Amino acid sequence: MKKRIIITITLGLIAISNLAVGQNSLFIPPTLIGPVFDLEMQHGTHNYFPGISTPSMGFNGDILGPTLIMEQGDNVQLNVLNSLGEETTVHWHGLHVAPEDDGGPHSVISPNETYNPEFEVLDKASTYWYHPHLHHHTFNQVSLGLAGMIIVRDTEEAALNLPRTYGVDDFPLIMQTKAIKADTVSLFNGLASTGGGLNNNDSTFVMNGTRDAALNVPRQVIRFRLLNGAAHRVFFVGLSDNSSFHQIGSDGGLLAAPVSLNRVMLAPGERAEILVNFSAYGIGSDVQLVSYNSELPAGYFGALQFDANSSSAPDGYGDNPANGTDVDLLNFHVTNPTSNPVTSILPSLVTVIPIPEASADVTRVKYLHSGGGPRPRIGPDPNGNNPLFDIDVINDTIKLDDTEIWEIHGDVTKYHPFHIHDIQFFILSINGSAPPPNLQGRKDLVLVPPGQIVRIIAKFDDFAGDIPYMYHCHILPHEDLGMMGQFVVSHDLYVDNIYAGTENGTITNPYNTITEALQEAQHGSNIHLVRSGNHFETPPNLLINKRVKLVLENGPVVIK
Ligand code: C2O
Ligand code: CU
Ligand code: CU
Repeated sequence: MKKRIIITITLGLIAISNLAVGQNSLFIPPTLIGPVFDLEMQHGTHNYFPGISTPSMGFNGDILGPTLIMEQGDNVQLNVLNSLGEETTVHWHGLHVAPEDDGGPHSVISPNETYNPEFEVLDKASTYWYHPHLHHHTFNQVSLGLAGMIIVRDTEEAALNLPRTYGVDDFPLIMQTKAIKADTVSLFNGLASTGGGLNNNDSTFVMNGTRDAALNVPRQVIRFRLLNGAAHRVFFVGLSDNSSFHQIGSDGGLLAAPVSLNRVMLAPGERAEILVNFSAYGIGSDVQLVSYNSELPAGYFGALQFDANSSSAPDGYGDNPANGTDVDLLNFHVTNPTSNPVTSILPSLVTVIPIPEASADVTRVKYLHSGGGPRPRIGPDPNGNNPLFDIDVINDTIKLDDTEIWEIHGDVTKYHPFHIHDIQFFILSINGSAPPPNLQGRKDLVLVPPGQIVRIIAKFDDFAGDIPYMYHCHILPHEDLGMMGQFVVSHDLYVDNIYAGTENGTITNPYNTITEALQEAQHGSNIHLVRSGNHFETPPNLLINKRVKLVLENGPVVIK
């Protein structure tokens, strides 16, 4: 086995040593149980290194945020108070919510204001997360510490014999790196274009904000919810003795069956739930969770070679001792089992029903580029002449209830993690082949390898509206620099109250009454009153529940 390192920074010197690992006990974020969640975004300081206070940001604390526990079917309300003294937003990454509740760049929270999204939890039991999403500021605010986990539970998952006691046999593991300046008290967290901020020397590895972390684990089956919350780094996770573990969940739900692996790769924003059976270890023994950076392919951030086709690398990358070198993320110390431990791994989990390729209404093609221009981009032009993100431009319009295939063409020399809001998708193929079993579940993010094509399929149901959803590269500086696009989901219904069964211009099959149209309306639908002067109906209560918009000839009327 290759030699692994732990990296410590002492008063500006980067020292590589082989000291004992796991000297600090792992921070486990507290939980908040719904249906009402109160969050305050605030400044703080955090001791990445003993005795050194580094400025930070957190939700309800100095760093990170509480783990939000939600039940499928619950109507939840989130009250997010912004005490940062600067603008922000908070996005519920992976949750299927209406566009006004999604917390994207359009839902700006001004200083001292509170954002109050309310929604029904429609998602399957899995691990989601929340983080700021203000355009140009996501990298900064996430790097400083704003990120938290969301655990959704449902009856299907609850019926399975799986570890699920938070902090006992079910642990959140938020994997991140920090680029701490030589002064040891501040982070590189701005964009390159704003002057010396973007630095690729993110050599400080933290697990739940804890550097050089250790965790006591009872000698039984333990569930870990892995989240790559890093700005641009891939983690290639395994155990230090190379023993296998089982992946049971992907981004948006449980897999059909546990998949035995000895490595799992996670791109920024991606999640995996894994089970590790510590019964094989003696009480008092130690084993480490490792990021096997030496095994990362060229062109993945964290590999020895930054660019798949050349030896060039940006500032700081080559000086970063973690790139291409295996790094310990967490030391497990095996202790006595709990009462009623889970001791075996189920042979199967849930029924996963993929979306058939033949059901697609539309295929959309997107190209990822980071070379050849000053800034990384995403868009339909294969030659890379794609626009940077513009908050006033809708890049794509999708029809409600359509099923779409998105064909994502990788950059020539570098990987990019592609993420899409609103929906969970299934991966149809990666470079022409079916995805491996651990990537066959519900996903909201996929690593697009350099030079390869990834095809995904999703159904855009439930929510229409005129606030856009985002799709973007989840390398945070790329997203901030404009490698992002936006789409609206549209649903237009027409009412013509003197419709007599003859097609009316370009409008096919208009409804005779608003009430009829409302039966078909979804959240966010537009109901166009074709001859607005002649409607004498009283809009029924359905309008209130569905938040539809009535559009008259002389302009829109919103009824909420
Ligand atoms: Cu995790 Cu658009 O974001
Ligand atoms: Cu998201
Ligand atoms: Cu990118």
